[in-house]
Amino acid sequence: MTDDQDFAGQDLTGQDLSGPSSDGPSSDGVDRGRFAAGDLALFIDRKGRTYQHALADGGSFHSHLGELPHDKLIGEAVGGWYATNRGHVLLAIRPTLGDYVRLMPRGPQVIYAKDLGNIVAMADIFPGATVVEAGFGSGALTTALLRAVGPQGRVHSYEINPSVVPKALANVQSVIKDTSRLQVTVGDIFDGIAEAAVDRVILDLPEPWRAVDAAADALISGGILLSFLPTILQVQELTLTLNDDGRFARVETAETLLRGWNVTRRSVRPAHRMVAHSGFITTAVRCVPRYVAPRPADTEPADAESTEPAED
Ligand SMILES: C[S@@+](CC[C@H](N)C(=O)[O-])C[C@H]1O[C@@H](n2cnc3c(N)ncnc32)[C@H](O)[C@@H]1O
Repeated sequence: MTDDQDFAGQDLTGQDLSGPSSDGPSSDGVDRGRFAAGDLALFIDRKGRTYQHALADGGSFHSHLGELPHDKLIGEAVGGWYATNRGHVLLAIRPTLGDYVRLMPRGPQVIYAKDLGNIVAMADIFPGATVVEAGFGSGALTTALLRAVGPQGRVHSYEINPSVVPKALANVQSVIKDTSRLQVTVGDIFDGIAEAAVDRVILDLPEPWRAVDAAADALISGGILLSFLPTILQVQELTLTLNDDGRFARVETAETLLRGWNVTRRSVRPAHRMVAHSGFITTAVRCVPRYVAPRPADTEPADAESTEPAED
């Protein structure tokens, strides 16, 4: 928003700043172009500061910029401009999942949009998939997974610390109203995975190599294991365990570097700041165990001659 779009000090009482109306309901009958009670709104002030708020009948948004009754937004345009009682104009849009995760109440360390997108893509999470994840944490990754599996899919989340579950669940439900496709198990995933014929196992916890055996048992052949880890020594331990297990192939690790750009008429340059490191994404595909012929040295005395062909 530019300075001339801020009307601080002017009497805007009764003025409609919400702009053009939306095009009406989508094919599913929901008018996503207008706010409804229960929706999340993201307010953006003239300095670009963001405020996330759930709209409720009779509710109100309060900040140092003044008060904005929710009833002024409910039924009105998403992407409209709304004045507080102190004459400050706020742009109101829907938060993206990335916005929501950045601003939501926190428990354990969350995964941000930069990595959420690649996790969903690199684990190839698809509509209808059955996904097991651990841990539930603050619910950020779970929300992305639930969206990706869609109405026909399921997400089973293991969380060892029961105290984080209520906040994580509330976070998920702020974005996804119907969480009937989510099952949260309070327990240690290292003790085993109860679900069978699972399409994907997603691990965001400190020692994922301890879940490799259980993941291999639970995954369908061709299923994908993905782990998100902050340090490369953890990645090495996981990679060696996956390779030693014998039921995984295509074990690969990558990280995501995301750099914003500042684009104006006078200058176009990279943003001064970026998140240099968050975590490594390791993926592996559950395969039929590969037959590895015993090496002569494994089975025969050192001086014996082997008749087995050499493995590559
Ligand atoms: C980094 S947080 C997960 C954050 C989550 N992915 C998110 O985006 O909000 C790690 C979580 O794993 C849980 N955890 C650690 N070890 C576990 C285990 N063996 N089984 C289940 N959960 C575990 C922790 O209690 C913590 O809540």
